[in-house]
Order: sequence, then C-alpha cells, then structure tokens
Amino acid sequence: MQSESIAYLFFAKSLTNMSSTAVQCAYIGLGAMGKSMAGHIARKITSLNYPPLLVYNRTQARAEDFQKENPQISKAASSLEEIAKKADIIFSCLLNDAAVQETVKALKPHLKSGAILVESSTIAPAIAQDLAKQLKEKDVTYIACPVMGPPVKAASGDLTVLMAGGNPETREKVKSLLIPVIGKKAIELGMDDVAESLRLKLCGNYYITGLVELIAEGMTLGEAAGVGQQHVKELLDCVFPNTLLGVYAGRMLNNTYRDQVAFSMSAAKKDVNHIMEMAKDVKASVPITEVFLDHLNQVQAEQGDLDLSAVVGKLRQKAGLDFDLKKQ
Ligand SMILES: NC(=O)c1ccc[n+]([C@@H]2O[C@H](COP(=O)([O-])OP(=O)(O)OC[C@H]3O[C@@H](n4cnc5c(N)ncnc54)[C@H](OP(=O)(O)O)[C@@H]3O)[C@@H](O)[C@H]2O)c1
Repeated sequence: MQSESIAYLFFAKSLTNMSSTAVQCAYIGLGAMGKSMAGHIARKITSLNYPPLLVYNRTQARAEDFQKENPQISKAASSLEEIAKKADIIFSCLLNDAAVQETVKALKPHLKSGAILVESSTIAPAIAQDLAKQLKEKDVTYIACPVMGPPVKAASGDLTVLMAGGNPETREKVKSLLIPVIGKKAIELGMDDVAESLRLKLCGNYYITGLVELIAEGMTLGEAAGVGQQHVKELLDCVFPNTLLGVYAGRMLNNTYRDQVAFSMSAAKKDVNHIMEMAKDVKASVPITEVFLDHLNQVQAEQGDLDLSAVVGKLRQKAGLDFDLKKQ
C-alpha cells in the first residue's frame, strides 16, 4: 500500500477517535511568537468542539492575560504538572535550549502515555534529538516544529512551519491543527529524526542573518559613495520588490533598530551560534555568518541589545560615518 494511503487511513481513524473523545490541547510559552500561535490554535480547536486551550507561561500573569483576551476558548493553567496531566497535545514555543530542557524536565514525570509534544522553539538539533529520545521512553511523541517568520507573521497566521518526527498518524493530527492555522505552508521532513527540521530552520536563519550583513554593507557602500542610503533602498525595492531586503533596508534607513526590536541581537546570536556549531560539525564554511557575528558582537558590546539591523551602524562607523544615519 502507498505510504500516502496508510497515512490517510491513520488520519481517518484518528478523526473518528477525536470525535468520540475530547482532545485536550495546551500551549506553553506565550512570548512574542507563542501568544499569537496559541490564539490561532485556540480558535481552531474551538471550531472542532475541543475543550478550551490550556495555556501556561513561566510568568503566570501572561497566561492570565491570555485567558482574559481569549475568554471561553482558553484557560490558564497554574503549573506544568497540570498541563502534563491533562493535555493530549502540547504545543510550546520558548526562548532557548535551557528553557525547553527545563520545561520538558518538569513535564516528563506527569505526561500521559500517548501524548504529543509539538515543540516550536529554535534550539540545537542535538537537544531536540535527546528530548525526543527521553520522551519516547514515556510513549510520548516529540514533533520538532520550528517556524520561519517574525511575530507580525505569527499574528497574521502566515508562518512557514517545518516539521520533523512523529508517525503518519501523529503527523496528520498535528498538521491539521497547524495548517492553515498558524501558517499556510508546512515543509515536511523525515519522521525518524526530529533534528531535520531544526537543521533546516538554522539554514533559514543563516539566510536571514547573512542577508542583514549583506544589506548593511550595501547600504553603507552607497552612503559612503555619496549615493545615499535612501536611493539604495529604492533600488532594492525596484529590483527585489516585496522581499526582506526592503524590510531590513527600511529598518537601517530609518534607524528603527533602537525602538523597534523585531529580532533582537541576543536572539540572533543564539541562532548564529547554533548555525556555526552545525557548520563545524559537517565541515561547511559560513564566512558571512562569522563576519555578521563579529559586527553584532561589537554593536551589542557598545550599544546594548538592539534589533539585529543595527549592525549597519558598525559598518557606517568603519566607513568614517556616524553610527546612526543622519535624517535628511
Ligand atoms: N521572534 C522571532 O522573530 C522568532 C521567529 C521565529 C522563531 N523564533 C523562536 O521562537 C522562540 C520564542 O521566541 P519569542 O520571540 O517568542 O521569544 P520571547 O518573546 O522572548 O518569549 C520567550 C518565552 O519563553 C519563556 N521562557 C524564557 N525562559 C524560560 C525558562 N527558563 N523556562 C520557561 N520558560 C521560559 C518566556 O516566559 P516569560 O514570559 O516568563 O519570560 C516566554 O514565554 C525562540 O526559540 C525563537 O528563536 C522567534
């Protein structure tokens, strides 16, 4: 039998099971990304007549605020133990490796057999593998589901979802709650190795951080050569319309990196360190990432934790210009 047919049979069976038994879903981590994803999932499961989404956040007030903003469709939980004991499908989006490890450690003793953890944080691939292995011993499925896109795309339900791990049944069950819910498209990777989606996520962030370096260098080149950064941005908008080139060029042109931190330098540094670690492991060279990290470190040390587009300030200084572009 074709693998798609097997997956369909599993899915049909799981839908039958879902209608007879209530599926309790939960969300852990209501930060810039998580709160929007949780909101979309809460509305989706309500449309399926599932119980309200259980939500948990380390800082409890955020879970209570979420419940107030999403009455009827969500319920704040007071502990990770409560989440683990009640939930069949747990989604999470947390800051970093340590946050995910601590959270799984607290959940693990209480998780229901057969539960599914859908983890969306950007973490080291090896850590996801280790957590998946630990949870398998408890008959819990770990699906590594990192996402591409900033908080504004999370809010509009327009993320790109990367999925690895699970089996045909759990994969379909989870995908039906994520697409088209938090995103319009899922890139599906293997079921045997949860690290695959994290490796792809790091490739994605390689492009984002490298692109920021490239734009910062080009904007500075134009400014130093007397063309003006506004004309460089105009050129990017004409040649590469509606792309991240224009978005980041806009942040650099308008010096918004101090007041509007969409992707902080500390978060970018965490991802860049994972990228460099992965590149080292597979003997790939990522010189653009190294140059970007050097500029990022210098700016962070001198100016604090700004938006990553502030690397342009270091490039400007190197060209004998002021850190901040003077407004016309
Ligand atoms: N922002 C983006 O553009 C973006 C895009 C794609 C992917 N991501 C990834 O998505 C994840 C979340 O990013 P975000 O922007 O939503 O971050 P955020 O706004 O800083 O939220 C972080 C969340 O993690 C929780 N947390 C932090 N340390 C913890 C710990 N030790 N134990 C338990 N919970 C902890 C925070 O709880 P408190 O409220 O208690 O601090 C909060 O709920 C990160 O892995 C990031 O790399 C971010």
